[in-house]
Amino acid sequence: MEKRIYITTPIYYINAKPHIGHAYTTILCDVARRFYRLLGYETYFLTGTDEHGDKIFRAAQGNQCEPSRYADEISALYRNLWPTLHIQPDDFIRTTEERHKKVVREVLSLIYQRGEIYHARYGGFYCTGCERFYTEKELVDGKCPDHLVEPEWIEEENYFFKMSMYQEWLIQYVKDHPDFIRPERYRNETLSFLKDPLKDLCISRPKSRLPWGIPLPFDDKYVTYVWFDALVNYISAIGYPDGEKFKKFWHCSNHFTAKDILKPHAIYWPCMLKAAGVEPYLHLNVHGYWSMDKQKMSKTLGNVVAPLDLSRKYGVDSFRYFLLKDMTFGLDADFSEENLVKRFNSDLANDFGNLVKRITEMIGKYCESRIPEPGPLQEPDKLILASLEELVNSMPSLLDNLKFNDLLEKIMNVARASNKYVNDQAPWDLYKKKDISRLHTVLYTAAKLAVSCAHLLGPVTPEKSAEAFDQFGITRRDDQSIHVPLQPGLPVKTGEILFPKVESPPPSPDTIKTEGKDEQPAAKQGAVEERIEYEDFAKVKLFAARVLVAERVPKTDKLMRMDIDLGFEKRQIVAGIAMEYAPEEMIGKTIVVVENLKSKKMKGLESKGMLLAAHGKKGLSLITVDRPVEPGSDIS
Ligand code: MSP
Repeated sequence: MEKRIYITTPIYYINAKPHIGHAYTTILCDVARRFYRLLGYETYFLTGTDEHGDKIFRAAQGNQCEPSRYADEISALYRNLWPTLHIQPDDFIRTTEERHKKVVREVLSLIYQRGEIYHARYGGFYCTGCERFYTEKELVDGKCPDHLVEPEWIEEENYFFKMSMYQEWLIQYVKDHPDFIRPERYRNETLSFLKDPLKDLCISRPKSRLPWGIPLPFDDKYVTYVWFDALVNYISAIGYPDGEKFKKFWHCSNHFTAKDILKPHAIYWPCMLKAAGVEPYLHLNVHGYWSMDKQKMSKTLGNVVAPLDLSRKYGVDSFRYFLLKDMTFGLDADFSEENLVKRFNSDLANDFGNLVKRITEMIGKYCESRIPEPGPLQEPDKLILASLEELVNSMPSLLDNLKFNDLLEKIMNVARASNKYVNDQAPWDLYKKKDISRLHTVLYTAAKLAVSCAHLLGPVTPEKSAEAFDQFGITRRDDQSIHVPLQPGLPVKTGEILFPKVESPPPSPDTIKTEGKDEQPAAKQGAVEERIEYEDFAKVKLFAARVLVAERVPKTDKLMRMDIDLGFEKRQIVAGIAMEYAPEEMIGKTIVVVENLKSKKMKGLESKGMLLAAHGKKGLSLITVDRPVEPGSDIS
């Protein structure tokens, strides 16, 4: 069987800074590629940034920046972040690069020449957030179901790709290739999309409305629709149509994305490839969504950045391990610092770290810090080595079935069984009994187990695994044979703890949730330490306000919309309190409001002001007044 794999992440939009969601997919792909390398595969791993389109153009305008300069800046944030998370892509593609634009033009020309692109007038509801038109049927209460804002009605002439003609072909292809889209739930979701008639895809935007994009090769009054541009990255980066890498890697392509972008990947992309005469990708692997402390991660809620800070606090490798272990591929998962610490202490510190520590220490104490020469193996040694072999044999199928968390669990099971083996064989008793030959066999076997666990965990914890190898006097590489040779006589270092245990998740400024704040960890920390002048404080206008109306914001867990009476004015605010307060409780309450905060949109609702609350260990507690006061009373 050919051992080759091409792994891709989505290319990320640069209208926002990277957060845990982007980090997850990219770490996952890095881990997958390192595991495949371990199995002897030739691998190629691509990531990058998606830089054209309305969203980016508006973000650049919002930052008073030329789109190209803005793109350079944010794209660099992504590119520079990955090595700090021990991610090593082979290439980083930007859709603003000439090598990419050239291929987009080529693909467009080809499909145009085949007569599968036509010009027509079209009117539709357009959501800028989604960068797509909606039909009336798809809107919920007249609003975009994702962004909860009313889309603009746009009527214009555009170019369309005859995607509808590929509907039957695609249905058949998905049916004939059961693992084309996986896990199965996403394959089923795709087939269910395809039950409705597939519409032709609008693939252009008039340049007069959006100048930031790749001009259509057959009409430069238009730029290419951002999805038609972005998806092509997967082939432009590897030299479509006749580059070496394209020939070598396209047929073994594995796209990894989350469920949010299933439709473009499962429907548009295969149809585009078919129209361009290119074989479809091999697999689309779709994972679930991370929430943060059971809430959707969102910039507005200010809960998106902390996880990257946690990687600094607990170590990058532990962070990678947690992400891979706590998400079952395809399902949603929740991120919390508490879970990370539990995982860290139980698996990495107790099971694996402890195994390395006790074995190096015993070799230090009983074998003059040299790997001992083993004697003949006995039944318990053979049994434990067989369990390691079983794990190694199960790896290809676990990987092919995207069972990353099961694979890690199996590695940990071997680490746990190895600790038990050491307890049962009691090298300390063998030493006391002066049974040196048996002592050496047991410690050699135990060292082999510890090194093997370190090696197998290496794709997830590359730095810590390298440190573990170093303690046993050897150097680790991902492409090294799974059966690491361990030469008797090698010097062993002792006394270094790979994963010092963390007592409990300490409260940290990193995890304080700052409602409505943008992601700025440094500023947050600064806010704790820096002293301010009274004049600075006086800029914040605080008033007592009475809640007149309170209701939950549909489709969110946390948000509550309220009409409040400020004495001099009635206005609307939106606050993240719905998990802890019922709307009925709020009506009539006197709350404290920051009156002069710039207004902010949350889920399409404008919030003019912010209420204050204390974030206690057991939850939120609203700041209110001690004695009745009239709405509009000044607070200072
Ligand atoms: N630019 C498009 C993709 C084009 S690919 C040809 C895009 N970009 S994005 O910046 O919005 O990235 C979406 C992807 O980021 C998701 O598919 C997923 O890989 C990752 N994630 C972002 N938030 C996430 C979570 N909360 N949880 C898990 N992954 C998420 O869409």
